[in-house]
Amino acid sequence: MYPLIRSLLFKLDPELAHEITLDLLSASHRLGLSRLFSEPVESEPVELMGLTFPNAVGLAAGLDKNAQAFAALGAMGFGFVEVGTVTPKGQSGNPKPRLFRLPEHEAIINRMGFNNKGVANMVTRIKQHDYQGVLGVNIGKNLTTSVEDAVQDYLYCLNQVIPYADYITANISSPNTPGLRSLQFGDSLTELIAPLVAAKTRFAEETGKHVPLAVKISPDMDTDEIKLVADSLHKLAVDAIIATNTTLSRDGVQGHFHAEEAGGVSGAPVKELSTKTIKILSDHLQGALPIIGVGGISSGLDAVEKLQAGASLVQLYSGLIYQGPDLIREAVLHTSGFLKEVSGR
Ligand SMILES: Cc1cc2nc3c(=O)[nH]c(=O)nc-3n(C[C@H](O)[C@H](O)[C@H](O)COP(=O)(O)O)c2cc1C
Repeated sequence: MYPLIRSLLFKLDPELAHEITLDLLSASHRLGLSRLFSEPVESEPVELMGLTFPNAVGLAAGLDKNAQAFAALGAMGFGFVEVGTVTPKGQSGNPKPRLFRLPEHEAIINRMGFNNKGVANMVTRIKQHDYQGVLGVNIGKNLTTSVEDAVQDYLYCLNQVIPYADYITANISSPNTPGLRSLQFGDSLTELIAPLVAAKTRFAEETGKHVPLAVKISPDMDTDEIKLVADSLHKLAVDAIIATNTTLSRDGVQGHFHAEEAGGVSGAPVKELSTKTIKILSDHLQGALPIIGVGGISSGLDAVEKLQAGASLVQLYSGLIYQGPDLIREAVLHTSGFLKEVSGR
């Protein structure tokens, strides 16, 4: 069924196809039809960051930027859904076109630039839903906020969403907001993350609700940089590292008509970079911080490869566009099988 839907959607402009799909998903969910897109799979729950994930496979940030269809997406079989990136104020993002398919490479290039309706709109939408699954909210800064003042935007978003989120991700690795990636290093990292950890700790003390904080990193760091970031994040006592965001590298897409479009590459070409980053993190951290692996998962085996590299959970986005919802089931089956095997059950 999905090959037919895909050939229709791929005839449309990518962003239009994306909007239509989200609208249809949320409408079908309201009508109680979203379970038609997936069969429930028996799966191995994962305990991580004090949360119970029904399975190890999540939807990565960026597909549901405004928390418009997360309940429908959850009903398709994901063990968790991450919405956003959301910023304090709504913003339109970069000029269109800004989203490109590279089907020959099972890749996407995007330079969306955090287009979203703002955090107040997101909170309203989350409150309207009856979603029972694990919900992550990915937060960022407005384009008009300087990198030096970024902490104010992240803190604002964190404080707005924390009562409604199961976990929060600080996205400091999008290549499409100028200067954002510089927040991954040195004093900038500490000055951003320490206040966020303090805010979620204070919230836990006041309310008894522990909302873990994850930090999402880029795949474009060398080994020493990865180890430095890992040490800093461990010291700052965040709850997890999400590895990785999209890559600026054009390896694997060279020669394609769209290869030189500005933006981040996702899908198959980022797979090895992401897995390598996870492996370096895992070898270096030795279990001190959990890792959520994301980048180029387009089969159940790809998902297992991320777990083998040291991830405890995985996320996917581009693979869903190319493979359709069957990929969720396949990834859940394979990761569950792998987790059962390693736990000796
Ligand atoms: C169109 C598009 C938009 C994205 N937007 C975001 C975003 O807003 N925030 C974020 O943290 N990651 C964003 N991502 C990155 C994904 O969450 C993911 O880290 C990356 O695409 C690698 O996974 P994949 O190969 O499975 O797509 C986006 C990816 C795509 C393709």
